[in-house]
Amino acid sequence: GAAVEVDISALKPGEKMTVEWRGKPVWIVRRTPEQVDNLSKHDNELADPLSERKAYPIPEYAKNEWRSIKKEYLVVIGVCTHLGCSPSDKFAAGPQPSLPDDWPGGFLCPCHGSTFDMAARVFKNKPAPDNLEVPPHMYLADTKLLIG
Ligand code: FES
Repeated sequence: GAAVEVDISALKPGEKMTVEWRGKPVWIVRRTPEQVDNLSKHDNELADPLSERKAYPIPEYAKNEWRSIKKEYLVVIGVCTHLGCSPSDKFAAGPQPSLPDDWPGGFLCPCHGSTFDMAARVFKNKPAPDNLEVPPHMYLADTKLLIG
């Protein structure tokens, strides 16, 4: 499939945009400084905090806590690794019914309740087996991404 060029200059902190690549939704999230800080606070609740599982390889440049090239921007495929539903945005922190008490915000899959953090890493004991996939991508300029 053809690579997709995306202008992310209009994306504000705390916002998400979606583009299509190979028929799949790719999310680009501009994280706030607080959302970036929270990424290091709940590693022991995550199934694979550093994306080290060989069964689900992701690009080398995303094998870190924030799972992306730049800490501020997350680029992931918005398809649940359980049975393929599309998780919803739950960026607001704080307790919510049926979510972990210390839920830091992220994504919630409406189909069977898998929860993901702001780096799209799945929480333990959830049906989704893995973190959301990271598509190959690079920056052509500060605010221009190439996906694919
Ligand atoms: Fe997402 Fe089942 S498809 S939890």
